[in-house]
Amino acid sequence: MSRTPITAGNWKMNKTVEEASVFAEALLAGLPGMDGIEVIICPPFTALYPLSQKCAGSPVQIAPQNMHWEAKGAFTGEISAGMIQECHCHYVVLGHSERRHIFRETSEEIGKKVKAALDAHLCPILCVGETIEEREVGKTEQIIKEQLLLGLTSVSPEKASQVVVAYEPVWAIGTGKAATPDDAHFVISYIRQFIGDEYGPVVAEAVRILYGGSVTPDNVYDFMKDPDIDGTLVGGASLDPAKFLKIIQESRRAK
Ligand code: PGA
Repeated sequence: MSRTPITAGNWKMNKTVEEASVFAEALLAGLPGMDGIEVIICPPFTALYPLSQKCAGSPVQIAPQNMHWEAKGAFTGEISAGMIQECHCHYVVLGHSERRHIFRETSEEIGKKVKAALDAHLCPILCVGETIEEREVGKTEQIIKEQLLLGLTSVSPEKASQVVVAYEPVWAIGTGKAATPDDAHFVISYIRQFIGDEYGPVVAEAVRILYGGSVTPDNVYDFMKDPDIDGTLVGGASLDPAKFLKIIQESRRAK
């Protein structure tokens, strides 16, 4: 088994182009020697192109936080997979819980986005996760299964290993209350088993599954030492280059 670990930073609606550029300089200066891990920054749309120019030739990938499933047309406020490719991106975050809950994106829509991303040779980072109410009534696995079934509905076995899944329990996002490594392990093992049932053991071994939700430099090691957890999707702690570099460093140490 060799799955290259990932540290991805989801900036959400933070950082101007100027601030993004300052961050990238600090990140790039701190990265040498940190090989064996993929580093992905997910800035707002406005910083995609300038950041990908700045990080060209470096190990840092730039990825958007969302996209539309159509190629072009009358979809005010949206961007397409082709536009993302033009910014030299290889990944795209889809189905983040803030998209699902604040913007009412459905799993069906997210499934269309996953298909459109793969058709355009982008790797989707498909986010799934249960709310605290769902967890408390014992529905975690059911919710994750539904989100995966609909999110992956059009994904062929040939393309399935290009999907990255991020397990982000909604109650852990931005709350400072991360899941325990055991909780994360339990759900991530369930996700890998689901992928194995749908696509077979080779795909299940290849798909990278990340944990997200209040990841910090102090707790990331404990997640990353779990052989089933292939990386993290980091929100708040990814805004500070020193913290983000420490998370990358700790992730490498654990693998
Ligand atoms: P957080 O956000 O690290 O601030 O909890 C994670 C995310 O939303 O991806």
